Amino acid sequence: MNLTLKTLGLDEAAVLPTPALVVLVGDGFRAGGDTLSAFIERERTKGDFKTATGTQLSSSDVAGTHAQRVLLLGIGDGAPAHVKKAIGAAAGFFKSAKFTTATVCFAQNTAALALEAALLAVNDALYLYTTTKTAHSKLEPSCIENVTFGVPDLGGTALPALRTAFVRAKAVGEGITLAREWANRPANHATPALLAQVAQALTELPRIGCDVLGPKDIAKLGMGALLAVAQGSAQEPRFIALRYQGAGKREAPVVLVGKGVTFDAGGISLKPGAGMDEMKFDMSGAASVLGVFRALAELRPEINVVGLIPAAENLPSGRAVKPGDVVRSLSGQTIEILNTDAEGRLLLCDALTYAERLKPCAVIDIATLTGACVIALGNVRSGLFANDDALASALVKAGEAALDPCWRLPLDEEYAEGLKSNFADVANVGGRPAGAVTAAKFLQRFAGRWPWAHLDIAGTAWKSGPAKGATGRPVGLLMHYLLAQADDLAAQRAKDKAAKPSRKSVRSSSADKGKKKKARA
Ligand code: BES
Ligand code: MN
Ligand code: ZN
Repeated sequence: MNLTLKTLGLDEAAVLPTPALVVLVGDGFRAGGDTLSAFIERERTKGDFKTATGTQLSSSDVAGTHAQRVLLLGIGDGAPAHVKKAIGAAAGFFKSAKFTTATVCFAQNTAALALEAALLAVNDALYLYTTTKTAHSKLEPSCIENVTFGVPDLGGTALPALRTAFVRAKAVGEGITLAREWANRPANHATPALLAQVAQALTELPRIGCDVLGPKDIAKLGMGALLAVAQGSAQEPRFIALRYQGAGKREAPVVLVGKGVTFDAGGISLKPGAGMDEMKFDMSGAASVLGVFRALAELRPEINVVGLIPAAENLPSGRAVKPGDVVRSLSGQTIEILNTDAEGRLLLCDALTYAERLKPCAVIDIATLTGACVIALGNVRSGLFANDDALASALVKAGEAALDPCWRLPLDEEYAEGLKSNFADVANVGGRPAGAVTAAKFLQRFAGRWPWAHLDIAGTAWKSGPAKGATGRPVGLLMHYLLAQADDLAAQRAKDKAAKPSRKSVRSSSADKGKKKKARA
């Protein structure tokens, strides 16, 4: 899909020869002298169109305009959330389009985040899962190939900011689409080995590297918790390590850890049958990491990022791990597996321990970890846990900006009480109350002293019901966080450079040479 940005006043939009023109009209709309403005004003006074969010008016022959069809969309106060909602409500228009080109324009000045919301909403509307379908008789993929986004040219600094936001949003959209696609694929089409192949294929993109460990290497390393999850399945586990190098080698990386359970039947602690198919989405954390790397390769920000994906299938069998079994994790801590359905924390704990050797500046794990988190926060906000206030607020802020919000939950020590075991250093479950918190408390034992955050996306990674499918969350949140980090790092580097003379000039100064001689002596 080709998405482009251009400046487009309503007077120009009116004479644009496009099959479909979508006009986003907010409360603050002021009519100009053009025919499109006149049309909007006319419909407004008649009461046939309102600027309230989600209001739609479609017309196929608007006098004086060159578009074959015009769709007016109310976006209320023009806030990003309202733009997203309005386009989401008109998703059918994009999905069922019989034309290849569309233009989406803002009738008035717009903020960068509202433009991003528009692009991502269109991107969302145009995605259709087809991979394992042969007859698309009812749901044909949209014909739209090109979407031009138009913003009024108001001069000043607004336009460069919109351009930057547009480029970023486009990359984030591609990341979201990749994450949705892989999360949607059924477990027999998205095995640990196939996820590893996707990661490996990403190394075709600039600045990306990838190492994949199979069962032998995983055992040699000592990841006993990951192996325990995998041992009931005929599918071999993989431990995937993606690297994105956008900054100097010595710059500490942000490490993302994505839960990659390609199917979670619960193991011997078998889940009930109803809705079990949805446990193919249990690798959504892993899919979001893949999506982030796709977007990073596109944008090439100056930051280092490592993506770790422990991938396995959790099935019951004669070889499966049993309730009461004790395994030894990579950290050396032994774990009593009281419930084999609490498998996410098992493979994540080994990945968190592995993260330590990367000397990270922050570690963020992303996991469809607990049903309890769905009960606590529903499908609106992801659960956020963190041992570091600065990291937590950066992630909350990123979530708000990306319209991919999360909500911080507590980590009081008292919540770890239930994880005590008579037979191992720790048990993998801690009773029903505050299930999302006790899961996070378990992970926290394996997150070392570096800033660590855990995103429980059990409620947000996919939708159930007739619209069943992956959402691509939290790719948006993570990308906003990483790009803000990269911007901060760049600002810091610029400040350091201004504050002290460059290394080169220090080295060549005679005073320094003297010091070096003294040090050697
Ligand atoms: N993948 C599930 C969590 C889940 C459940 C996500 C439902 C989305 C919807 C996870 O592995 C799991 O089974 N968790 C258990 C933990 C329990 C055994 C302590 C749960 O939430 O029931
Ligand atoms: Mn489970
Ligand atoms: Zn699971």
